[in-house]
This record gives sequence, C-alpha cells and structure tokens, in this order.
Amino acid sequence: MRLFTTIAGLRCYLERHRSGKDVGLVPTMGALHPGHLSLIERARQENAIVIVSIFVNPLQFAPTEDFQRYPRQLEEDRKLCEEVGVDAIFAPTAIELYGKSPLNSDSGIQFTQVVPPGAMTSVLCGASRPGHFQGVATIVTKLLNLVQPERAYFGQKDAQQLAIIRRLVDDLNLPVTIVPCPIVRLESGLAWSSRNKYLTEVQKDRASIIYSALKEAQKVFQAGNRDAVGWRCHSTVIIEAVKSKLIKASDIEVEYIELVHPTTLAPLEQVEQDGLLAIAVRFGTTRLIDNMVLQNR
Ligand code: PAJ
Repeated sequence: MRLFTTIAGLRCYLERHRSGKDVGLVPTMGALHPGHLSLIERARQENAIVIVSIFVNPLQFAPTEDFQRYPRQLEEDRKLCEEVGVDAIFAPTAIELYGKSPLNSDSGIQFTQVVPPGAMTSVLCGASRPGHFQGVATIVTKLLNLVQPERAYFGQKDAQQLAIIRRLVDDLNLPVTIVPCPIVRLESGLAWSSRNKYLTEVQKDRASIIYSALKEAQKVFQAGNRDAVGWRCHSTVIIEAVKSKLIKASDIEVEYIELVHPTTLAPLEQVEQDGLLAIAVRFGTTRLIDNMVLQNR
C-alpha cells in the first residue's frame, strides 16, 4: 500500500497504475472505525484500485468547533487500510490542498468554493453549522477532481451530506457514481462515529437511546395512521414518538428531530413514500447525529 501526501505523488501513481482500471474513492477524515471500513470493503469489492483519502478539512469546521481536538491517528489508520487491502492513502496537508487560505480566516485570501443549494445546506445540521456543507462540497469536489474515480463511497450516517453530494454530482455533471452505504452500529445500537472517542464508556451506553428512539418511531410509522386518503403517518406523530423517548434522558439535549424528504431534504408533513427521520443531540460537549429512512411499502 502506498501513502501520498502530495497531489503530484497521487497523480503520478494514478497515471502509472490506472490504465483503464476502475478506481473507487473513499473520502474520510480519518480516525477510522467499522463504519469507514464498511465503505472501504464495499469499494474493494467493486473496483480494481481503492484510494482512501484522510484529511481533516479545516473548511468544514467553524472556529468554535472541534477542528483542533478532532482525533488524528494516521499510523493506526494506515494499518487498518493495509489490512482491508487499500491500494493507496491520500493524506495531504491543508497547505497542499488549499495553500494558506482556509487555515487563517483573517488572511483575506479568496479562493473558489462550491455552493450547494441553500435549501439543502440551511436545514438540519446546516442550521447550527453555517458554512459546513459548503466546506464539505468544496473538498469533495476537489477530491473527485484529483482522483477522478469511477465510484465514490459515502455513508448514510451523514444523510444530509450524502444528499448534498448526490445533488452536487448531478448539478455539475461529475462523471462519478456515488455509492450510498448503510449505517454501521455498535452492538448497543449507537452509530459508529469518530466523535464517539469524546464519550466515556458510560456515555456511550447512554447514547444508545438515540437508536432506541429511532426504532420507536419506526414502530409508530409501521403501525400507520389511517386518514381519509389511506395509510399515512403524520410527521408530528413520528417526531413526538422520538421526543417522548429522548426526554427521559436528562443528560441529552436535543438539537433537532426532523422528518424530511431523503433527496431534497424538504420538510415532510407526512410520509407517503420515503421519509428521512434525522436527529442531532448534544451529549455534554459532544454532538451526535443519527437517522433512519422510513419506507412506506
Ligand atoms: P468522516 O466523518 O470521516 O466520514 C467519512 C465517511 O464515512 C462518510 O461518508 C460517512 O458518512 C461515513 N461514515 C461515518 N460513520 C459511519 C457509520 N457509522 N456507518 C456508515 N458510514 C459511516 O464525512 C466526512 O468524514 C467528511 O465530511 C468528508 C466527506 C470526508 C469530507 O471532508
């Protein structure tokens, strides 16, 4: 397995090894866990060459967020990638990718960014993280341009990010297939996240209530609510089911519980086909997100 920290090194490798082979890209910020590994394994099955990028993107963190504290463990990540048969890691520095600009917001240096539709970036996590999805869209576009993969793999764990990237690829006619991958959870039901490292073991146990709340909502949804038109479930009924479960955990502060269209992220009053039930909570200083797609079939 190769590790590249420069764009020139990565490009040179791809020029030499590509020759008509399919390339799969898995973009990550490192601190790899079973969620990331499931994406990599899927990429391994479907492509001759698998590239994993590891880059904690300063552009998607607000000054008040955990950019400095975000776990960085390149050596461990390297071993994990080697074990699952990755061909090359791309782990550039911020200066390599952006020059000096985004490292210092006072620098006054401007550069081109990718701006997804406001209706998709201002809702859910975007409401409390202004600029976040613009930062994600910009780095993902750069990585897709650098690697030019046939396929790129993203987790349903970050459902809003996935919807925005699919829209971006469509809108900009990028020649790549976005492959969505299911959420991987711990046995307790808590979704794997690099930010779980901020939680104590006790907190991790307590945080499994988020998944229990989602499952409760799914039960309510599946039981259905008959109205004049047929079997439908109103969002308030589903959201209340989640709230009443989460309210029991006094150490959890709910940031949002919302039911939206999985592709457009527009709020849904009721689910007729698919609905994305998305949650963000704060557990002390740690922010956790999770979701479930409710399907009316
Ligand atoms: P990161 O949080 O490292 O996640 C990298 C990828 O792994 C994302 O597509 C994410 O949805 C997926 N992932 C994380 N936890 C998962 C889980 N429990 N189950 C399944 N997939 C999971 O998301 C980012 O990095 C960044 O925003 C990035 C796209 C790399 C741009 O900087």
